[in-house]
Amino acid sequence: MERIIIKTPDSISAIMVGARWEAVTRLLPESGVVIITDKNVFNLYGKSFPDFPVIKIEPGEESKKLRVIETLAAKLLKLGIDRSGFILAVGGGVVCDVAGFLASVYLRGIRCGYVSTTLLSQVDASTGGKNGVNLDRIKNVIGNFKQPEFVICDTTMLRTLSDEEYLSGMAELIKTGIIGDASIIEILEKNYAKVILRDRKLLSELVARSVKFKASVVAKDEKESGLRRILNFGHTFGHAIELHEAFKHGYAVASGMELATLFSYNKGLIDRKVCNRVINLMKKYNLLNSYNISSDTIGELILHDKKKSGDNIHFVFIEGIGTPEIRKVPAGELIGFYKKFKKE
Ligand SMILES: NC(=O)c1ccc[n+]([C@@H]2O[C@H](COP(=O)([O-])OP(=O)(O)OC[C@H]3O[C@@H](n4cnc5c(N)ncnc54)[C@H](O)[C@@H]3O)[C@@H](O)[C@H]2O)c1
Repeated sequence: MERIIIKTPDSISAIMVGARWEAVTRLLPESGVVIITDKNVFNLYGKSFPDFPVIKIEPGEESKKLRVIETLAAKLLKLGIDRSGFILAVGGGVVCDVAGFLASVYLRGIRCGYVSTTLLSQVDASTGGKNGVNLDRIKNVIGNFKQPEFVICDTTMLRTLSDEEYLSGMAELIKTGIIGDASIIEILEKNYAKVILRDRKLLSELVARSVKFKASVVAKDEKESGLRRILNFGHTFGHAIELHEAFKHGYAVASGMELATLFSYNKGLIDRKVCNRVINLMKKYNLLNSYNISSDTIGELILHDKKKSGDNIHFVFIEGIGTPEIRKVPAGELIGFYKKFKKE
């Protein structure tokens, strides 16, 4: 088991990779705990949950709504949860985003911890303290930063994920390799069969590498005023694609990373070899679906994205594998590049 600590100015969070999730009981207070999960996760693992009240939400993005937060807060009140209460989230990115946000605002903030159950949440969503809900179709507009006290990443739980959900998480893992720990890329290139078979040991190593890299970034810039923006590699186009197509988050990010890689090549920041290496890896893991979005539509969607500041967008390029580069790009240039890519 590997224990990775994220230290920020006002919190300490312990991410335990390779730990058995059932050991979570030892990390919880004796009383005042409420478990928040979704119905799928409950059906698979609910029998072994610690003996505390459980609130189940509907699985999927539809639960990332303020209305759900209100309903959950009302349930906590009814259960008599006071400021000494503790929320344990057991689920993927949606459950962690919802439960983390609830914990940050309920009675002005109560304690929380996560058992992270999808590859996407283990390598990304549950680490770093960002939480939030969507507003209409725009993602994560209402949210907060709150570090959970702990996150358990038990890679045996990933065996029950559908192939689509598993590969969606693979995209965020590839992202960490591209912007940070380049050895992730090498491992994914050389161990395709083991990765597809969800080898527990190999997955624990990959998740630990990803968490370590994210932890190092978050420790330097918790509130995303600079460095943390590199974690948005692929997300400017990715969020727009996610809004328009019925893609899972990771698949949309993969298409966004393809565009960000080609844009980096287009600007002369990387050579053809690096460009092909990144795109071929995403093809190998079947992450690049086709989509049909006009440049006008992609422009509108990007300008709605919360990362926009003025007419310039902080865009994450790469100068090589493991070397991200943030540049402010006029929205028009971004859309112009997309037009060229789509041969409009
Ligand atoms: N806070 C952040 O920093 C951050 C970062 C990246 C993504 N996110 C958010 O994460 C969300 C996506 O997360 P996700 O991909 O984990 O989606 P998710 O939480 O919706 O889970 C995907 C599906 O898998 C099911 N599931 C969960 N664990 C399972 C298991 N072990 N076995 C079988 N099925 C299981 C769920 O019920 C759901 O149907 C998005 O809303 C995205 O915005 C947040």
